[in-house]
Amino acid sequence: MMSPAALHPMPTPIFPDAAAIEAAAGELAAGRLVAFPTETVYGLGADAGSCEAVDRIYRLKGRPADHPLIVHVTGAKQAQRWAHWNDSAQRLADALWPGPLTLILQRLAHAPGWACGGQATIGLRAPAHPVARLLLEAFERRGGMGVAAPSANRFGRVSPTRASHVIADLGDEAPWVLEGGACEVGVESTIVDLSRAAPALLRPGGIPAQRIEAVLGERLRSPGATAPRASGTLAAHYAPLIPVELVCPQAIAGRLAALAARGVRVAVWSSQRPGEEAAHWEPAANEPRTLAHQLYDTLRRLDRSGFDRLLIERLPATDEWAAVLDRLVRAAAGTPAPD
Ligand code: TXA
Ligand code: MG
Repeated sequence: MMSPAALHPMPTPIFPDAAAIEAAAGELAAGRLVAFPTETVYGLGADAGSCEAVDRIYRLKGRPADHPLIVHVTGAKQAQRWAHWNDSAQRLADALWPGPLTLILQRLAHAPGWACGGQATIGLRAPAHPVARLLLEAFERRGGMGVAAPSANRFGRVSPTRASHVIADLGDEAPWVLEGGACEVGVESTIVDLSRAAPALLRPGGIPAQRIEAVLGERLRSPGATAPRASGTLAAHYAPLIPVELVCPQAIAGRLAALAARGVRVAVWSSQRPGEEAAHWEPAANEPRTLAHQLYDTLRRLDRSGFDRLLIERLPATDEWAAVLDRLVRAAAGTPAPD
């Protein structure tokens, strides 16, 4: 008798040699999904020019239809097929593409809007990961305009930074997953809105805001009430299942002792070793880029660890820590305030 596993074999990541990249581009051209590595997180890709293909992303992710997707392109030239390009976009693309930067621009009237969640704007990004670049180039050679791709996780959950995370999340519904190792940056792209008079930061991410400001020669506004919506800015996004609390470094010992006294088994993720009451200590990197690289893998691991609660050291509210702090605040948003 065949085992259930044989009837429904779990997908395995595909080694991205030249033949696999071509075949994956063929999958995209045929309207099917392909998960692929980027330098930030793994993306769940589909032909951005096809309504049916983009629809498959929304269904598999369980994502609300009004949440727009980022369209991944080979560079500024392909981006110009989608959007009203401007001087700021050109300067940022010259300096920071390919890389973890998404630009929001006004969509061209004739450009397909399937990925845009009903908005007149479009999010565009040229990723730097070599496998992503090869895939986008192969798809462009087949006549593709770009690849719509959200992070390859179920809606609202922790983003995947390894091929194994994608498969763990999507299970036997996972499409082809190209193997690209652990994502170097580890947090999503920085999103900058260039669709209106003044540039605005919609989501802190892989590129610090100050670097973007240095290229533009002006400050980024914080998004006003009329800014385009970004789903990654929902309060409880990037949520693990384990209750998470962010605690100032000097308050960790007290909080830990209070919880442990009540029999709560606490894991602590901090740069300094906590007291003996901790059921587990996860050392935290003292440097933003290293912590970002480890962020989602560590959250996923601690989520499955069986501890009752996770205390995470609150990071300084400075530009260099902004992306990681933003994700941790959202990871903690679903946990009731400590009593
Ligand atoms: O690093 C990344 O950006 C990754 C990789 C795969 O490229 N992608 C990613 O996609 O994080 P996703 O779907 O998880 O987040 C995309 C964000 C959402 O917050 C969405 O609302 C915003 O981009 N976005 C996309 N198009 C937009 C638009 N036209 N206006 C405003 N926000 C937009
Ligand atoms: Mg996401």
